[in-house]
Order: sequence, then C-alpha cells, then structure tokens
Amino acid sequence: MATIAPEKPEYRTSPTAYEVLVEHLKQHPEDTPQHTHPYDVSRSDIYFEDRWQPIFAEMRAKGPLHYVPESPYGPYWNVVSNKAIQHVEALPELFSSSWEHGGITILEREEEEGLELPMFIAMDRPKHTGQRRTVAPAFTPKEMKRMDEEIRQRTGELLDSLPRGEVFDWVDTVSIELTTGMLAILFGFPWEDRRLLTYWSDWAGDTEIATVKDLTAEREKVLHEMGAYFQQLWMQRAQEEPGPDLISMMINSPAMNQMDPREFMGNLVLLIVGGNDTTRNTMSGIIHAFDKFPDQRKLFEEQPDLIPNAVQECIRYQTPLAHMRRTASEDTELFGEQIKKGDKLILWYLSANRDEALFEEADKLDITRENARRQLAFGYGIHRCVGARLAELQLRILLEEMHKRRMRVHVAGDVERVRANFVHGFRKLEVEVTEF
Ligand code: HEM
Repeated sequence: MATIAPEKPEYRTSPTAYEVLVEHLKQHPEDTPQHTHPYDVSRSDIYFEDRWQPIFAEMRAKGPLHYVPESPYGPYWNVVSNKAIQHVEALPELFSSSWEHGGITILEREEEEGLELPMFIAMDRPKHTGQRRTVAPAFTPKEMKRMDEEIRQRTGELLDSLPRGEVFDWVDTVSIELTTGMLAILFGFPWEDRRLLTYWSDWAGDTEIATVKDLTAEREKVLHEMGAYFQQLWMQRAQEEPGPDLISMMINSPAMNQMDPREFMGNLVLLIVGGNDTTRNTMSGIIHAFDKFPDQRKLFEEQPDLIPNAVQECIRYQTPLAHMRRTASEDTELFGEQIKKGDKLILWYLSANRDEALFEEADKLDITRENARRQLAFGYGIHRCVGARLAELQLRILLEEMHKRRMRVHVAGDVERVRANFVHGFRKLEVEVTEF
C-alpha cells in the first residue's frame, strides 16, 4: 500500500512529545508541575521511578475514595478499590464520560482542546451505543480468526530477525513494531507510514505535556496533522473497492449515514491511540515481569498451555492505562463520601489490579492465578475496551511464537519507564535473547 504522506518526511525524525517536554522543562524549570498533597498521584515521577505501589496500598487500606483538593489538574477524587471502580463504571448516566462534562482523562477539557474530535469513548448513551456498534464488527471472534494468520506471520518474521547474543531495545524493536503492525493490519493503513501511528499516539496520550501551556500549541498542531492524514486516507479508501479492513468496513457500513465526517475521523483516531500505547506497553511489561519473576518465566517455558492465563495475568500486572476519568453529572453519595455535581473521579485501574481484597499477593506475577481474568485493565461496563480481543490475540501470538522458538528474553541493560500518569509503561527496555 502506497504512502500518502510523502510531503511530510519530517514526521519520521521529529522529536517525540517526551523529548520536547524534557527540553522545555530544562529551559523553564518554573513550568514543572507542582504536587503537594500526599495522595496527589497525578505526579508522574512515581510512575517513572516505579514507586506508586505503597501510596495506593495506603489509600486502599484507608478506604475506596480519597479527595485531593489541589493539583496541577485541579481538585479530584482518587477511586482506588476494584469494587468502587466497577460501581462507578456501572452508573454511566451519573458518572459521565462525555467531553461536555470533562472527558476521560485527568486533563480538563480546555487543556484537551487540540483533541476536539468527537469519539465514542468520550460520549454517553445513547450516542455512544450507536457509534460503538459501527466498529464492534471488526473485533468479533470471526474477524480475530481472519487476522490471526497475518499477525502470526508478521510476529514470527520479526522474532526470527532478532539478534542473538546482542543487547537491543525491546520497546522499539519489538513492542512498537508489532503494535503498529497489528494496527496497520486492522486498518489497512499504508505499511510504510505505520510509524506515524506511534508518533501521533505519543503526542495524543501524553497528559503531562498538556499541562505546559507553551507546548499545547505544538501538541494541537501534531493532532491536526494527524486528522488531515486520516481525512486523505478516508477519501482515498472511499474510492476503492470495499475491502476487509476496518476503514473500508466503516465507510461501507449503513450506520455511517448517521455519522458525520468529524465523528468518523474522531473514532479512527480513538482506535489508533487506544490500541497503541496499551498493547505496546503490555508487550514490554511481559518481558520485564518475566525477568523479575524467573520462576514464572520457567513455568511458561514448561507449560505453554498456561499462555492464555499468562496473558491475563501480565495485563493485570502491567495495567498499561493507569486511569480513566468520570465526572459526576449530579450531587450524590458514594461509599459514604459526598460527591458534588462536576466533581472529577479518577478511576485508578493500576490500584484496582493490585487490590488485595481480590488478588492474593497482588504485587507478584502468578501466571496460574485463578482469577486473573477479573483484572480491570480493560475497564468495565458500557465502555469496556472494544479492542480487548485483538490485544489478547496479539499478546497470545507473541508468547506462542516465542515459545515455539524456545526464546528466553533477559533484561540486559537500561530500563526506562514512561514519565506519565495515564500511559503506564516502558520507554526503553534493553534485553538479550537466549534459548531455554
Ligand atoms: C477503551 C484499555 C487495547 C480500542 C478502553 C478503556 C481501557 C482500555 C481502560 C476504557 C474502558 C472504560 O472506560 O471502561 C486497553 C488495554 C489494551 C487495549 C489495556 C491492551 C492491552 C485496545 C486495542 C484497541 C482499543 C488494540 C483497538 C485497536 C479501544 C476503544 C475504546 C477502548 C475504541 C473505547 C470503548 C468505548 O468507549 O466503548 N481500552 N485497550 N483498545 N479501547 Fe482499549
């Protein structure tokens, strides 16, 4: 498939959102977000330094909800128990996802202005239901079967090309490559341009960059360019014969008649951003967790029938999206706390998946864990991740193909985590491949 962005070669060498942010804060240390409240877990250093666990454990021990009156993102409630998050997500009218109320991350809507595109993750019923229906057919078990072969082939080729006895970065070489490849297959996205998906997703998913006023215009520019690319792709696809890819499926679905072009675009962007960091960071998380818990890696090597459960457990352990947000549409009482209309509730999946009330020895990876499937990393209720089956398929294929090749992956160099409160994962993971 031909590229449609030849006039934008600078995309490939442009600095990432993170690089721009780090450089800016070096020049303007006064712009560094200030966090003073002990339970203000919107501070990204605790994720970067991997020391968030005891703070959430302390909150969970005291209760399911904790109010933070002041933060760079304004006041908000931490919702930290598995039960409380499910409860909030089961009441989507009372706890809204819509942009009008404030959207789905800890950022305020004004700060999200660059991402104004309407998308169904940030809609309430009934509009959400209709729009989700237009993409859901791309994720049925039948569609997963259709994509299995191509994903498996691409995964196998990549694994075969990895150097042996040499240190390399698993994030860039494997996690990013396989995730963008998976999304390119889903969309029928021009293969040569697939790294654009990574570039856009980085800018769109970085909540910290949007707290720095000087950089919001830069972020907006990148997101607008992303919109323009999709518009071109859509127009191109509309003139072609209908194919099995998601874009073609959406263009030719009868429900498209009720979706305006901006909504179509917004939902495409949602699928790309939604599938990107999440799947990528789970792939890195699996390798890091297996290295930290070598007994579990050994179990995987000896008992490949555990792979489906290992996928669930690794998703639980990593939890690649730390939070989602809801906003109260009315005054209400929640687990004994008075919630005011307009209050922001941050649902910390990261905490729910370490909730000792549900998961025994929750800070340990255990691929035989009987209730691993009860992890909340995909959310709960009407907004539960529509791409969950595809992510699970890609992760299962990765483990199966690694096992087939008797690959053992060790951490063998630098480990750098993402400095963010939304995306939870790895920027760099230097590894070495050996055999078992
Ligand atoms: C929604 C996580 C992979 C597309 C969500 C939500 C979470 C999530 C937490 C919000 C749920 C809620 O508010 O209750 C994940 C994780 C993934 C993953 C952990 C991988 C391990 C994917 C993939 C795609 C995707 C591969 C698509 C290619 C979406 C979409 C929504 C969504 C479109 C919005 C659903 C709705 O509002 O109805 N995901 N996701 N995700 N995800 Fe994923």
